[in-house]
Amino acid sequence: MKEGTKSGRWANNPLQNGYAKHGDKMPHDEYVKWQRECLTEAMRLINEDGAIFYNHKWRVQGGLLQDRADIMEGFPVRQIIIWRRAGGFNFNPGYFVPTYEVIYLITKPKFKLVKGANGHGDVWEFNQEMKNPHPAAFPVALIERIISSTDAQVVLDPFMGSGTTAVAAKKLGRHFIGIELAPEYIEIAEQRLNGVEPQHKVRQSKMF
Ligand SMILES: C[S@@+](CC[C@H](N)C(=O)[O-])C[C@H]1O[C@@H](n2cnc3c(N)ncnc32)[C@H](O)[C@@H]1O
Repeated sequence: MKEGTKSGRWANNPLQNGYAKHGDKMPHDEYVKWQRECLTEAMRLINEDGAIFYNHKWRVQGGLLQDRADIMEGFPVRQIIIWRRAGGFNFNPGYFVPTYEVIYLITKPKFKLVKGANGHGDVWEFNQEMKNPHPAAFPVALIERIISSTDAQVVLDPFMGSGTTAVAAKKLGRHFIGIELAPEYIEIAEQRLNGVEPQHKVRQSKMF
């Protein structure tokens, strides 16, 4: 997720205008409260062996790093995964160009990775998605890495955008539930999903 900003790294980014139906201009305290409510609901939904992979950019605002500790406080964060991606333009001479995003692995106590997945390091390198009209689409390979590292049979993405999570889940033969505010992004998601052939058979459902 992201918040609106008019300064720093993102000043000239297309995301400056927000998403199609969501301006992202929420005051910081309100935003933190909202995100914590979303995470609390997600924790309520998952099983005792479930997990949340929560992606959030860190950013500099007013000259200080916002590392999202205020959102994360009190949630059972087991690990931080760094998604290393290409940098962009940095118009601010006060800090280096950001080249990574953070994925918080928030888990219930019995969560385990599938056999072999713990061999991946905690720094993942995936190029950004360039062809997707959504302004903040994930690369499919990143989400495939996440889903295939778990045995989750139902994957929920409450901020689905152009449907990348659904595309990856369908490819891997998992069930998915997506929630998205903007009808135009849902349309993109549906079009993308129509072009996906599952590589694995869908198995029995289990909430993740
Ligand atoms: C970071 S983008 C997700 C992009 C997605 N991962 C993809 O690959 O396309 C966040 C999305 O959340 C949506 N959004 C914002 N507020 C929302 C809300 N209250 N309910 C559902 N979706 C919302 C925005 O429209 C935007 O598409």
